[in-house]
Amino acid sequence: MAKRWTQDAAQFVGKDSWAFEALKELLVQERGLDLEAYKESCIYRRIFLRVRSSGHENLGSYYRALVRDPEELDRLFQYLTIHVTEFFRNPAAYDYLKRRILPKILLESRNAAKLRIWSVGCSSGEEPYSLAMLMLKARDELGVSTPFTILATDIDEKILKKGKKGYYSGDSLKNVGPRDLVRYFVQEGDGYQVKEELAKVINFRQANILTDRPGHRKNLIVCRNLLIYLSRPRQEKVIKRFSDFLVPSGHLMLGKAETLIGQNRIYFHNISPVERIYRKREVPLEIEET
Ligand SMILES: C[S@@+](CC[C@H](N)C(=O)[O-])C[C@H]1O[C@@H](n2cnc3c(N)ncnc32)[C@H](O)[C@@H]1O
Repeated sequence: MAKRWTQDAAQFVGKDSWAFEALKELLVQERGLDLEAYKESCIYRRIFLRVRSSGHENLGSYYRALVRDPEELDRLFQYLTIHVTEFFRNPAAYDYLKRRILPKILLESRNAAKLRIWSVGCSSGEEPYSLAMLMLKARDELGVSTPFTILATDIDEKILKKGKKGYYSGDSLKNVGPRDLVRYFVQEGDGYQVKEELAKVINFRQANILTDRPGHRKNLIVCRNLLIYLSRPRQEKVIKRFSDFLVPSGHLMLGKAETLIGQNRIYFHNISPVERIYRKREVPLEIEET
């Protein structure tokens, strides 16, 4: 069924291949989004759905309207980049991070000037705020005072604004325990505002994981539910970049349905195959000749 769906969407896009090429060009130029890096099936489906829901019969007529309507370009960009997220998404993974990884990172780096975490493809901020809560608590529990920062990046500037604002509905905070809610949020109107203690450790910044560099090397990179949308060669390239951007023995955490692929296994130890946590090898494994 899903295969049929993908074929239909591919045919729909293929009928107006000139418009697809022009649309790709427009997205690169206007939003820095290179659709070539993403899985074709996913892109075709999303474009098909967006064209149909905006009332157009075919991609050609949609494209002609799109070039005259910057707001629709925004909507398409948002739709293609997929912002689904939540606080402590897949709680078991965060639990593992809290119990097994953060204490290790904090104790090993207790004499470091600063500890650096990077939340890649952070969407509207729920992920970096979840990480910040865990870090603040882990520091208290271990009696470690090493300062830390979380760089939170996303390709979409608009979605980052929500993260910077730090205001969330009560419903979206369902995975945040009652004690953390009181400690890190203030109720305002119908929602909750992140307190300064949490906000000040996070630095939100627009960046494209395919092209931009994060500055200082990181102790922990968290990139969840982004790689899954990329084509296989790009996934491989991005994971290699992560190994370059980590400190020696730094940790990498991926999403529940993501894993190391191809040659990337030479750069990382597999710490938790279930929770998708990896540790950079001191020295990459030698590639076996075939
Ligand atoms: C599904 S959300 C994942 C949010 C969060 N990491 C989580 O797991 O809940 C994927 C995010 O990746 C961002 N993204 C997609 N392509 C990107 C790229 N090339 N560079 C940086 N961010 C990207 C999207 O804008 C979106 O906010």
